[in-house]
Amino acid sequence: MNIILLGPPGAGKGTQARHLVDTRGMIQLSTGDMLREAKSSGTEMGLKVAAVMDAGKLVTDEIVIGLIEEKLTAEHGAGFIFDGFPRTLAQADALAALLTKLGQSLHTVIEMRVDDDALVQRITGRFTCGDCGEVYHDVTQPTAKADTCDKCGSTNMVRRADDNEDSLRTRLMEYYKKTSPLIGYYYAKGDLRPVNGLADITEVQNSIEAILG
Ligand code: AP5
Repeated sequence: MNIILLGPPGAGKGTQARHLVDTRGMIQLSTGDMLREAKSSGTEMGLKVAAVMDAGKLVTDEIVIGLIEEKLTAEHGAGFIFDGFPRTLAQADALAALLTKLGQSLHTVIEMRVDDDALVQRITGRFTCGDCGEVYHDVTQPTAKADTCDKCGSTNMVRRADDNEDSLRTRLMEYYKKTSPLIGYYYAKGDLRPVNGLADITEVQNSIEAILG
């Protein structure tokens, strides 16, 4: 089962993807995580995309499609969760072609609906475990022990360079201009299933489970 989690920055895509990895053994393919990894390991591509990401702009289609193609052919499991991909119509067409080439298909596209005010709160309070990637929030999802990951015990907590109000404004504008047309694209294909992303994390999990069956 291959699914897309579609929604603006801070909608909860990463949080829900990690839950599906834990409960269903699916494989999370987050283009944001792949690009951050390239950035921190200082590869040529990472250096090229660093400033673009920090400013909140989209990286070129060519780069992200290449990243996804590499993972799709290398990884095997109980289905892929596309988290933060596709983000443009060109990426959506490329994904359809890649899945067809691999003899696979898309099961569903989960649209996570939230409003902009909630996104600002979520993004400015977010931190993650630098070792296992678990996602937290200062208010809604704090760690049980201050600055210590509940999942792996690491004290390496990180905040993203693009998690500030200026970058978020640009990220939201990019989302509305370039990514939100995908809502119509997948609706027309009959693949779109909306969930209320404003509900608490467990309720959102339950809504997604109900859709996936
Ligand atoms: P990316 O890493 O994909 O970031 P994003 O789409 O902006 O999404 P986020 O990771 O910020 O949010 P999320 O929806 O995963 O929310 P989360 O679960 O963390 O992309 C970063 C950059 O990389 C882009 O700007 C671009 O430059 C580049 N890029 C990536 N993919 C690309 C592509 N395909 N094409 C081109 N460029 C690309 O939750 C946020 C916070 O809210 C957390 O603290 C969490 O605990 C909390 N929270 C989550 N759910 C709830 C809830 N239900 N109630 C209360 N709090 C909640």
